[in-house]
Parts: sequence; C-alpha cells; structure tokens
Amino acid sequence: MLENMEKMLNRAKEEKYAVAQFNINNLEWTRFVLEECEKGETPVILGVSEGAAKYMGGYKTVVDMVKNLMNYLSITIPVAIHLDHASSFESCKDAIDSGFTSVMIDASKEDLQTNIEISRKVVEYAHARGVTVEGEIGHVGGQEDGVVGGILYAEVEDCVTYCKETKIDFLAPALGSVHGPYHGDPVLAFDRMEEIKEKTNLPLVLHGGSGIYDEQIRKAISCGICKLNINTELQQAWTKGVREKLSADSEVYDPRKVIKAGENYLKEAVKQKIELLGSNGKAKKI
Ligand code: 13P
Repeated sequence: MLENMEKMLNRAKEEKYAVAQFNINNLEWTRFVLEECEKGETPVILGVSEGAAKYMGGYKTVVDMVKNLMNYLSITIPVAIHLDHASSFESCKDAIDSGFTSVMIDASKEDLQTNIEISRKVVEYAHARGVTVEGEIGHVGGQEDGVVGGILYAEVEDCVTYCKETKIDFLAPALGSVHGPYHGDPVLAFDRMEEIKEKTNLPLVLHGGSGIYDEQIRKAISCGICKLNINTELQQAWTKGVREKLSADSEVYDPRKVIKAGENYLKEAVKQKIELLGSNGKAKKI
C-alpha cells in the first residue's frame, strides 16, 4: 500500500529498527526492489532524487510507474515514494502535486534561519495534503562537494531549534556520513546522534548509508536512526552483474537481458540490508 512515512518510521522508532530508503533509477530497479521487499515483508521507502526523477521522465511518470508496478506485482507491503534532497519549495510542491507521499527539503547549505523558513513552508504545504517531510541540519558531504571536505556536523541546539520551529516529521542530522564511496573509514558522531534523539524525540535519518560497517549501522539504530538511505551500494551491486554478463557474453544485445543481469546482485544487496536493519517481517502487522 502506498503511504507516507509517518506510521512506518514511528513504529521503527518504538521498536528500535530502521526502514531502508532504496533510491530508484529506472523501472527495473523499482521492480527488483519492490519484489525483494515484498518477499522480506518489509516496509520500504523508494527514494527519488531530482536528477533521477528527470531521468525517468518527471515526478508524475515516477508516481504512475510505481503505482502501476505495485498493482501489477500485487505488492501488499507499505511503500512510500519519497523525494530525496529537494532543492526548493517549488520542487517539493511539484512532487506532492504529482502524488509523492513524502519529501525531503534540503536547505542545509543555507543559514539556519533560511533553512527554517524554507522548511516551514514545505511542512505547511505537505501536511495539509497528508505528506510527510524530512529536513537536514549540518551538511552530508560526498561526491557532490569533493568527499569528506563537504561534511558539516549538525549542532545539537540547531537541531532542536529547527525541529521546534518547522514541525518537521523526521530529521537528518549530518553526523559524519557521506554520499558515495568512502575514502577511509566512516567516522560517525554517535554521542551527538543520541543527544539529538533525546532532545528532538523525532525519528532520525542517516544519509550516505553505503559503505558504513554493519556494526556502525546497528549502533546508529540504537542511537535513534530509524531510516537509512542507500543508493551507491545498489548501483555497485547491479553494475557488477551487468559487467560480468557483458564480459562473459560478447554476443548479447537484448537490453532486457543486459539489465536483468544485475537483478540477483541487486536483490541480494536489498535482502542483506533489510535483515541488518531489522525491518524484515515488520510489514506483517502494519
Ligand atoms: P549512498 O549513495 O552513499 O548510499 O547515499 C544515499 C543517500 O544518502 C541518498 O540520500
């Protein structure tokens, strides 16, 4: 069932597990993720970046594709379609009007007051339409800013002020994770994560979920993380299968066979992640 993230993340918070946001890039990925999550009986969040939405033909195309696939595949688990790192109110509005059930407004590069003003406007528009909102404090670095140099750790007091003033549903505080591959070991500020959880009492989100060690993910869940965003690891898994196929079979030319070659690796990556996060089986009672 298509829904927003409220029930799924608040239940995860109560029962101390996390729900995966798997970013989608095309129809096949969406199908592979939905099939594996249905099999694992887990709620799932389909993350869609602005770039991926453009690639797939716009927000409305994405929503129609997800709905039609869910119908075609008889998907029964809770599924959220979530706009990842929206750069403006207009982008959030466009996604909401197109049927997204959740959005993330990322005004984290702005000063705190501007971030609050933009986020509040998104929250007002979204809540009036039953859509949930995630916001970011600090700045999760990554490929887009030249890796580790881009991290700006979230300050606890900024998080508290931001949540109070915006009425945001979920908070993504930047605490050392980066988007894309890590250069060196990930260093996460767990003490601060726990303090933010205590003081905001909101389900927390960890971006840059690829490449973080399993024990760090377990620890992050115990410190308040209820949603983990994963994109790069699925891309790497899928590409591995496609690369193997193309190296082993120089005659293949049917795009369906090429794309499908990544299916098993991608599904295995999804399975491992939902088991690690502890969300498998949780769709049964929702
Ligand atoms: P990774 O690509 O590092 O998994 O990060 C995904 C993410 O945080 C999307 O918002």
